[in-house]
Amino acid sequence: MDFNIAVLPGDGIGPEIVEQAIKVLKAVGVKFNHTFSFTEALVGATAIDQVGDPFPEETLQLCMKSDAVLFGAIGDPKYDNDPKAKVRPEQGLLAMRKKLGLYANIRPVTTFPSLIHKSPLRKDLVEGADFVVIRELTGGIYFGEPRGRSEDLNTAYDTCVYTRPEVERILKLGFEYAAKRDKRLTVVDKANVLATSRLWRETAQEMTPSFPEIEVDYMFVDNAAMQIIQWPKKFDVMVTENMFGDILSDEASVITGSLGLLPSASVGIHTSVFEPIHGSYPQAAGKDIANPLATILSAAMLLEISLDLSEEAAAIRNVVDRSMDEGIVTEDISEGKAYKTSEVGSWLSENL
Ligand code: IPM
Ligand code: MG
Repeated sequence: MDFNIAVLPGDGIGPEIVEQAIKVLKAVGVKFNHTFSFTEALVGATAIDQVGDPFPEETLQLCMKSDAVLFGAIGDPKYDNDPKAKVRPEQGLLAMRKKLGLYANIRPVTTFPSLIHKSPLRKDLVEGADFVVIRELTGGIYFGEPRGRSEDLNTAYDTCVYTRPEVERILKLGFEYAAKRDKRLTVVDKANVLATSRLWRETAQEMTPSFPEIEVDYMFVDNAAMQIIQWPKKFDVMVTENMFGDILSDEASVITGSLGLLPSASVGIHTSVFEPIHGSYPQAAGKDIANPLATILSAAMLLEISLDLSEEAAAIRNVVDRSMDEGIVTEDISEGKAYKTSEVGSWLSENL
């Protein structure tokens, strides 16, 4: 079959890791007889530099008409220490989420036996951990109005808002994911303090009778942050609001010792977006040393979720496992010879 994929390489290591995922997708095309057409567009700091807008209209149009979006990373240190910058690369990411209606961010957290020793946690705590964090992505304090500064600039405010339909649709996705997995759903909130969290909890409680096979538990976010470290193996599917999900998904991703391997999907109303969770890693940009596996595994999620090509996705996951067994990996996870980003991509595409 023929598929159109929008490619948004973005900033830092984005372009070089995305290039490897494209190599692997092309190999999938040859092996399984599909044609993938890739069209690139601008996003992030690169887009600000070139056209003054971190998510240009042209990029939006390309995403809207594509079957899926493969995304690299955004972020540039020149903006990080300049709180006065008028346009920021991150605004591009938020605009993309809002305009494509990407209300759910899905981050599977899995351990890889050969990388367990890189975990900051004891092996016995983390070995076999396997859960999914589902983060609401287009509501809450990230988008609520009003937001801003008082006239004298001495007061600043953000607003956390959720409506029942917004909460329902993300919880529904959480229940559905749990149904496909170990049938346990943890709803994370701060219902002892926040009105929005009480709406989340109330809505979840109303929905539980429709999913009788799912065991639901409720956890305050501070407690969840602690339990992810203490008993990561106890979680199956975790669902939470935008800001809590931002924090917990970073925490969850690092405990496995395999940050460079973790993919993500953002899904919703229009075209879904697939990206590695590790960000733009500007120190490594252009050096051909960044680990491309998270992006390549994001491409596997793309095949499975957007194109309904599960066998093809499994082929990518298999060849990634083999590359790790055989030590064809970049310096961040290698125990012996370190391979370049481009060498790993080529090996995977040749051995698929
Ligand atoms: C993420 C990132 C973004 C977020 C930033 C870059 C705006 O941390 O995707 O988790 O906070 O959502
Ligand atoms: Mg984040």
